[in-house]
Amino acid sequence: MKNWNLEGKKVVITGGSKGIGKAIVTEFAELGAEVLFTARDNEEVIKVESALRERGLNVYGMSADVTSTDHRLRIKMWVDKKWGKLDVLVNNAGINIRKPSNEYEEREYRSVFEVNVLAPFELSRILYSSLLDGAGSAVVNIASVAGILDARTGAPYGMSKAGLIQLGRNLANEWAEDKIRVNTVSPWFTETPATKNVLADEQKLSAITNRTPLRRVAQDVEIAAVVAFLAMDKASYVSGQNIVVDGGATAAIL
Ligand SMILES: NC(=O)c1ccc[n+]([C@@H]2O[C@H](COP(=O)([O-])OP(=O)(O)OC[C@H]3O[C@@H](n4cnc5c(N)ncnc54)[C@H](OP(=O)(O)O)[C@@H]3O)[C@@H](O)[C@H]2O)c1
Repeated sequence: MKNWNLEGKKVVITGGSKGIGKAIVTEFAELGAEVLFTARDNEEVIKVESALRERGLNVYGMSADVTSTDHRLRIKMWVDKKWGKLDVLVNNAGINIRKPSNEYEEREYRSVFEVNVLAPFELSRILYSSLLDGAGSAVVNIASVAGILDARTGAPYGMSKAGLIQLGRNLANEWAEDKIRVNTVSPWFTETPATKNVLADEQKLSAITNRTPLRRVAQDVEIAAVVAFLAMDKASYVSGQNIVVDGGATAAIL
């Protein structure tokens, strides 16, 4: 369909080897984008890169930890050398450690903040000059319903995702004069390796689906579709928003 694509866009996606990130990489590449994705586990990165390249998709993998200053610099250098500009950044990599608040060790909750909010802040800043050279540039951050209300996924995760949602609003405002749009996508429970254990517990699964009007959890592709739209030029007047993809969960009180 005319312009409903990402043809020619140069895109960086973090945490692209599994789950929602992998679905975003696939969706973007299928829509015509050229994608660099990162994750820590190099074997997984190579596996995903090869599988997608075999399908003729324009995908490059890089083993990189978003919490490392050196690794973020490597991403920037790769983009400068290969593309000389960047059109879209998707900050997807995220982690959680679920516990009652009183039981966290300091290094545990700090690691959640490092990955979920400080790394997206730093990566957006380091790639800003590349986005300035992009065409219809956009940043999309993957937060969570847990950043809006208590989804019983632990306080540090909720606090970090709330911070990420606010980062989106601030950058959208600051970078509007540079024609860079910044938006957030906040999923509710989605079937991925990260939620495998929780969703395998029938009691927990039915507690989740019972408070979801659509009566099911999301598939990773259902999140990726929304991210793709926000990255398209078709979304040229959408900025500073947090799009909640939750099967209606936050609209319902019971
Ligand atoms: N699944 C859900 O129900 C749900 C709901 C709301 C929001 N979200 C958010 O959606 C995003 C994706 O979640 P998911 O469920 O798809 O997670 P996942 O299945 O655990 O996949 C996470 C991806 O991020 C990578 N990653 C983790 N830490 C990283 C780091 N420090 N540097 C670089 N890459 C890193 C992982 O690869 P390596 O481990 O090899 O690095 C993997 O590719 C996260 O931000 C999450 O908070 C998920």
